[in-house]
Amino acid sequence: MAENAKHLLLVDDEAALREAIAERLADHGFIVEQAANGEDALARLSEFAFDIIVTDLRLPGVDGRAVLESALERYPEIIAIIITGFGTVKDAVNAIKQGAADFLTKPFQFDSLLHVLNSALEQRRLRSENAYLRSQLEDRYRIDGLVGRSRVMRDLSQLLETVAATTSTVLITGETGTGKELAARAIHHGSPRRANRFVAINCSAIPETLLEAELFGHARGAFTGAVGTRQGRLEQAHKGTLFLDEIGTMSPALQAKLLRVLQEREFERVGDVHTIKIDVRVIAATHSDLARMVAEGTFREDLFYRLNVIPVQLPALRERRDDIPLLVQHFLEKLGAEQVPPRHVTMSQDALRRLMGYAWPGNVRQLENVVERALAFSHGRAQIDVPDLGPDIQNLPTTPDEGNPWFPDEGMDLERYIEGVELTLIKRSLERTQGNKVQAARLLNLKRTTLIEKLKRLERGQPGVA
Ligand SMILES: Nc1ncnc2c1ncn2[C@@H]1O[C@H](COP(=O)(O)OP(=O)(O)OP(=O)(O)O)[C@@H](O)[C@H]1O
Ligand SMILES: [Mg+2]
Repeated sequence: MAENAKHLLLVDDEAALREAIAERLADHGFIVEQAANGEDALARLSEFAFDIIVTDLRLPGVDGRAVLESALERYPEIIAIIITGFGTVKDAVNAIKQGAADFLTKPFQFDSLLHVLNSALEQRRLRSENAYLRSQLEDRYRIDGLVGRSRVMRDLSQLLETVAATTSTVLITGETGTGKELAARAIHHGSPRRANRFVAINCSAIPETLLEAELFGHARGAFTGAVGTRQGRLEQAHKGTLFLDEIGTMSPALQAKLLRVLQEREFERVGDVHTIKIDVRVIAATHSDLARMVAEGTFREDLFYRLNVIPVQLPALRERRDDIPLLVQHFLEKLGAEQVPPRHVTMSQDALRRLMGYAWPGNVRQLENVVERALAFSHGRAQIDVPDLGPDIQNLPTTPDEGNPWFPDEGMDLERYIEGVELTLIKRSLERTQGNKVQAARLLNLKRTTLIEKLKRLERGQPGVA
């Protein structure tokens, strides 16, 4: 028990009894502190988060009930054991109702105390394990298929979780294949709207004239070919989520109409005068730089601000290379299970290194395609290796990376290269610590003074003297 010995506060006014119990508890590995009265117990509780409190109910001054109440209020996770006098079972029952784990009636055998303590600890352990499992399941549900344990992805899933609870409009940006649609679905599935529809519409895939009718629906005869009245995607998403993909391609006229929907939560079908009220959460996505389009006058500024209430930026895959092994495993499992018969295939470390060194302009989608191709080329072998990766990954230069640096054909300036890497890593560690040099130095396993010297020297661009 030594490595996680439990801290126990023992409260009793009978000194001899208290000291005897304390000694035996210490023999069993508990770290025991003693309090002789209620005031002392309260003071100790305010200073230290004990795992366990064992208290007599009848104490001079502040009594055991008050001590118990204060302990449980401050520390909902504390294990409280009550000691009562003979014939006061009613008090004990009340204490249990208050949240005590168990009680003992004086006089008691030390072994019964030990038994009560151990079973309470075991119960607590099971409960927290269950809570952990449950929270893991919920986590999986919440981030909903977004694989990644890198720092950026953990921050992202936390953001998505927070955003999901609101009805705010969200603008998701990121390069192609970074998982913008996946993130939008994750928000919907984590939101109170999950029981209703997630309706996706790709603004760039539909010709402008049709997009309006697609979005807003149309009345009969609104235009040639509009044979019946039709509900638009907006109406289909009522009480749910509307995902507007590639919002940057929307025409100015439609931008104005969308702005009205976001502001007034109402619209009319094409060719109809009847106004329809709508309750919809809008998530938009784009791989273009909307702020720049606003500056250039190709995207409405007011719409941009309406959409950009909560910006969510998806990182490029090359910015989270540490997630590549996890993603590969995920795709191998997913794609392997789809094969007939299902296959269980692994990736060699060598192949994995290549994948981690590649720049991934097409991000996760491209990685998924490469894994799929490799699976096909592995011809039933149990492990994928470098030749299965195809010429694109094998022959394309990898980006310079300290774990897998690219060696150019024409040779290189080694010192300058190393200094570049040093400077990049120092800057990154400073970014991560918001400029705190002590913490940054610790992250780099450097002395603070060494970090400052290096930074000065590297920024002056002077070659260092080792
Ligand atoms: N974090 C991730 N974990 C698992 N799969 C992912 C992740 N990110 C993306 N994918 C997968 O990659 C593919 C591309 O994702 P998605 O369609 O969401 O990207 P996108 O950003 O919308 O791309 P585009 O800009 O090209 O529309 C999908 O098959 C998706 O399942
Ligand atoms: Mg997409």
